[in-house]
Amino acid sequence: MAASAQLRRLRGDDQQAMKSFKVAVIAGDGIGKEVVPEGIRVVDAAGARFGFRCEWTPFDWSCERYVATGKMMPDDGLAQLRRFDAIFLGAVGHPNVPDHISLWGLLIPIRRAFQQYVNLRPVKLFEGIESPLKNWKPGEIEFVIVRENCEGEYSNVGGRMYEGTPGELAVQQAIFTRLGVTRIIRYAFELARTRKKRLTSATKSNGIIFTMPFWDEIFREVSKDFPDVKTDQYHIDILTAHFVRHPDWFDVVVGSNLFGDILSDLGPAVVGSIGIAPSANLNPEKEFPSMFEPVHGSAPDIAGKGIANPIGQIWSGAMMLRHFGESEAADAIEGAIAKVLASGRVRTADIGGTATTKELGGAVEAAVAN
Ligand code: NAI
Ligand code: MG
Repeated sequence: MAASAQLRRLRGDDQQAMKSFKVAVIAGDGIGKEVVPEGIRVVDAAGARFGFRCEWTPFDWSCERYVATGKMMPDDGLAQLRRFDAIFLGAVGHPNVPDHISLWGLLIPIRRAFQQYVNLRPVKLFEGIESPLKNWKPGEIEFVIVRENCEGEYSNVGGRMYEGTPGELAVQQAIFTRLGVTRIIRYAFELARTRKKRLTSATKSNGIIFTMPFWDEIFREVSKDFPDVKTDQYHIDILTAHFVRHPDWFDVVVGSNLFGDILSDLGPAVVGSIGIAPSANLNPEKEFPSMFEPVHGSAPDIAGKGIANPIGQIWSGAMMLRHFGESEAADAIEGAIAKVLASGRVRTADIGGTATTKELGGAVEAAVAN
């Protein structure tokens, strides 16, 4: 084996010339372990067709590992991930482990250490998916949410005092920096420029009177560099109503960590199953690996049954390939997803069928391969 690898290297044949990407795989818990293999096989099929390969390296970091060792990942976990081009993640979370442990023990350290300050979540109504909203046709709802992913309301600055007494109190600081706000808003403008050139900002400057006016001010400043992009802004409360009543208004929507989090669950919900929604945690400068994961969690209620919808994971794989610059391959995967959903022959239970995770993954793989 080693000798033949050596021989290939000496010959410098095609295998060696082929572009390759190093990907760390964290399948995690529950249905994460079921959908990740489907994502991998579809990305591999795209690689075979478009001439690149991914070297997948699995890590068992998860709540299961936490129960066994007391840690979600080893102490040098971040250093281990640093050498990869990307991280392909399933989902973490287990009913026996508090959710803040799985989140702050794995996902948040990765997002912050690797400056994955953009959380990108596309929302698209596909043919063959029934939306809870009536009378919308495929093509009419297609937008993307850009969520700030490193600061904002999700901070570990704060504390509790007088615990267990009637005077007990809790304080949690929101952190908004000029650097952090400017770079996320600028990213959203750049993205809007490549799409329908419309950017909506989520705010709440009527109620939250320091950080949100600061956010709005920077939004106005940055907008001066993008006169070709049409802008609007809404308070988060009415914005959620517009997502439901006028989902066709939106192209790119930018929000702080908390507002983006809420909008990016609502967005996928208005176009159908959470099982098809993907996300990317991006370090746009590519100084560090970016991370690609479905929006959904580990779904303990259906874990182990082999019936989870793998499309959120597969679409996240397409987002990863786009980040690598393999746009044709990404387009092919997205096209294959649309085709399989439209044909309606292979569907998992969440979208009204009886197919297994593997059957749906296989159908998308076959559609990518030709
Ligand atoms: P969830 O997304 O795991 O499940 C919500 C509902 O949607 C469940 O009824 C589930 O069966 C269904 N569902 C989710 N994904 C599906 C798929 N691919 N196919 C078919 N049905 C699907 O959210 P929940 O129940 O709030 O959280 C479960 C665990 O996952 C918790 O421990 C939570 O902390 C964790 N979680 C982890 C995330 C991550 O790893 N990024 C994100 C969200 C939750
Ligand atoms: Mg969320």
